[in-house]
Amino acid sequence: MGMQNNGQDRGDRHDQRNFGQDDRQHRSPQGEQHQGAIRLFDDHGMYALPALRSDRQAALDNQGAAWHAKPMRIVFLGDVVGRSGREAVLRVLPDLRSRLQTDLIVVNGENASHGFGLAPDMARDFLNAGADAITLGNHAWDRKELIPFLSQEKRVVRPLNFPPGTPGQGAVVVELSGGRRALIMNVMGRLFMDPLDCPFRLTAQELSRYKLGGVAGGGSIQAVVIDVHGEATSEKMAFGHSFDGQATLIVGTHTHVPTADHQILPGGTAYQTDAGMCGDYDSVIGMGKEAAASRFWRKTPGERLAPSEGEATVCGVFVESDDSTGHAVRVEPIRIGGRLSQMIPSLSA
Ligand SMILES: [Fe+2]
Ligand SMILES: [Fe+2]
Repeated sequence: MGMQNNGQDRGDRHDQRNFGQDDRQHRSPQGEQHQGAIRLFDDHGMYALPALRSDRQAALDNQGAAWHAKPMRIVFLGDVVGRSGREAVLRVLPDLRSRLQTDLIVVNGENASHGFGLAPDMARDFLNAGADAITLGNHAWDRKELIPFLSQEKRVVRPLNFPPGTPGQGAVVVELSGGRRALIMNVMGRLFMDPLDCPFRLTAQELSRYKLGGVAGGGSIQAVVIDVHGEATSEKMAFGHSFDGQATLIVGTHTHVPTADHQILPGGTAYQTDAGMCGDYDSVIGMGKEAAASRFWRKTPGERLAPSEGEATVCGVFVESDDSTGHAVRVEPIRIGGRLSQMIPSLSA
């Protein structure tokens, strides 16, 4: 959520020295040779620019990919806001898990505690209700007791591009049924947000440690889910295309409004610019509309923002992927309860 954003445009500091994917053999930063892993540096030692995928490339790459009878099923739920959001998510999670036969559920919890941060007991509640991992964002430390909690509970991840030495971690590998493994990452954008390390470069470095794909094909990880927490649609789209083919799902959070651009990108990555919040939509991005609106009308200190407590809409995205490639084969939005039009994926669709 960005209600505390200072509104300054710090400009695009993207340094254009990103990375690329190269299907040929290459040398990793550790000097180790990998077949088909991510290429971080070009021949001049610069970060390689991404080779963005086209539909034609993807069609060629996907020829011969084995189809598994039972795909991996993934649910991602956007920023949970306040009590209304928490209660709705806790109510819906067990049903989603059984109805959609999910293998992996990820929830963004950065606004669960009265709109600001996540308390450890709330994190435990989400995990106990069926979440496999929880992501955060710019409100990660609003409840400070979460900081020591992250050293015990690795399934709660904060943005990867926080400064070196920051407590917690930006990625976690969770073990799934059938010996499969999923990498969950949280990364923050920089446009109209806090100045942080480059999310593109750090994501490339993190992904270079793994190979997405089936165990039989030498894959070390069968699914990658990246929550890109950012204000600007442009930055999130650029991020999605940059890592197309290297992740199963790249989904935006932070703006608290679901976008209608859910799609499978040419390289096989499911993408949606913002999952939308799990909160009351009769509000200003989850917070009481009167207090939030008055801040725009008057340039005087307004009353403290508090979450709107009407019935929440649980918003997110549902993905099915092929375990042999780690790529998405289906992506659908989720909108359950509350004011928004309802969208509940069906396994028979
Ligand atoms: Fe948020
Ligand atoms: Fe946020």
